[in-house]
Amino acid sequence: MSQLPSISFVRFAVPKKGTVLLLSAEGAELAETAAALDPAKVLERATAVAEFKGKFGSTVELLAPQETNLDRLVAIGVGKVSALDEHAWVKLGGVIATTLRNAGEVTVLLDVPGAATRGREAAELACGILLRSYVFDKYKTRKDDNGKAEAKKPAKITVQTADPAGAKKAFADMQAVVDGALLARDLVNEPANVLGPVEFAARAGELAALGVKVEILTEKEMKKLGMGSLLGVAQGSSRGARLAVMQWNGGKAKDKPIAFVGKGVTFDTGGNSMKPASGMEDMKGDMGGAAAVVGLMHALAARKAKANVVGIIGLVENAVDANAQRPGDIVTSMSGQTIEVLNTDAEGRLVLADALWYCNDRFQPKFMIDLATLTGAIMVALGQLHAGLFSNNDELAERLSEAGRQTQERVWRMPLGPDYDKLLDSKNADMKNIGGRYGGAITAAQFLQRFVKDTPWAHLDIAGTAMGAPGNEINQSWASGFGVRLLDRLVRNHYEG
Ligand code: BES
Ligand code: MN
Ligand code: ZN
Repeated sequence: MSQLPSISFVRFAVPKKGTVLLLSAEGAELAETAAALDPAKVLERATAVAEFKGKFGSTVELLAPQETNLDRLVAIGVGKVSALDEHAWVKLGGVIATTLRNAGEVTVLLDVPGAATRGREAAELACGILLRSYVFDKYKTRKDDNGKAEAKKPAKITVQTADPAGAKKAFADMQAVVDGALLARDLVNEPANVLGPVEFAARAGELAALGVKVEILTEKEMKKLGMGSLLGVAQGSSRGARLAVMQWNGGKAKDKPIAFVGKGVTFDTGGNSMKPASGMEDMKGDMGGAAAVVGLMHALAARKAKANVVGIIGLVENAVDANAQRPGDIVTSMSGQTIEVLNTDAEGRLVLADALWYCNDRFQPKFMIDLATLTGAIMVALGQLHAGLFSNNDELAERLSEAGRQTQERVWRMPLGPDYDKLLDSKNADMKNIGGRYGGAITAAQFLQRFVKDTPWAHLDIAGTAMGAPGNEINQSWASGFGVRLLDRLVRNHYEG
């Protein structure tokens, strides 16, 4: 991961050097703290000349303003004060990150007349700065255009606020979640030659340092458990298969855990039903679900969430060698149900079938939520701005939708039902692993539902949102870390204490 800026919170004082960022709302006066700056008058003229109106995300910049020692003075529009909801502050942090460039010392005056700018808002702003500052450049040996190998120095950012103590406290908590999201991005961005099932499992194992209990099941143990569905996918690869079981026990001892299950296909060639060459490189991200689960476990453990949480990820590489699974093969899943594998590229559901069954069987969780880059069809249906949400439980679905609105990791509920389920019936086995030509995201979800019994369950198809989604205020990287902030929020809202 690239070097992120460091952020601290202090009381208001007139800054004397470095870069100063001040916030300006639409149709409002400058805050007194900003007006007290030496070059405030010049800035007022400059904003007028630039026809700066304080629109969200717009900026005006003064370089080396006369009679001061400041390097830059930047006004940043925050839009209408009435529109400043929680996510606006995170996004604003993202905007701030774009104005940093090579600045060393940066002071942000968090003062907007009429708006709440307490600890929480300051911390949200800081989160946005970090999320946007992330770049995946560990394999770039030349960091800048001049061919110099040295990375630019990270900015030292001081946020001036009326509530530094509150900001520090709120940020300590939120930073755990940012770290989790950035960990998920790192895992998804990492190429498959570096990160196979074994290496991914080792990364999950590192959560032990935060007090997470981690068990790694090998092929041998999975074979004993009867996980023929998951192992069938892995059998064409020399990289092995793993199932990582993570437990964070921050809740009451007798409380049933909540559970998150992730698809961790470290590379998806499609197997014998091979994918076309064009765009296949994106399949290094086919473990985005598993990455989100690891990122979430990191977040919950690092902020010591008061909840009992299980995370399970099925790790395989879907590759092709002489031993690879063939179309028409019939495998027996841990549940005992048999599956006719008509397309070896519909492999994620085969991995999840055993992971979900194992999770339910061993932990009897309060609910299970799985995350998977499962189908191209969900991108056809929803584009890349909502993940597909499928659930057998209205309350859980509504809670996820709410968390999605709050974090802007948005989900959109899709239908399930017996008529769709029928499309999976097979002549030769209990089911086949693909439905018909249409509704591919739905039949995939229907397949998963056959492995969850009556446990409240939700499936998030994140094929469109976990990677390659259009950049936004808080992410410019290929991998988004989608799911970490969403699910942390779900846990925070309903399952702690
Ligand atoms: N990993 C893919 C889905 C995917 C596609 C994720 C594009 C991200 C971007 C999945 O394993 C897959 O290949 N699904 C097939 C299912 C089909 C064979 C029924 C698909 O969506 O085409
Ligand atoms: Mn596939
Ligand atoms: Zn896949």
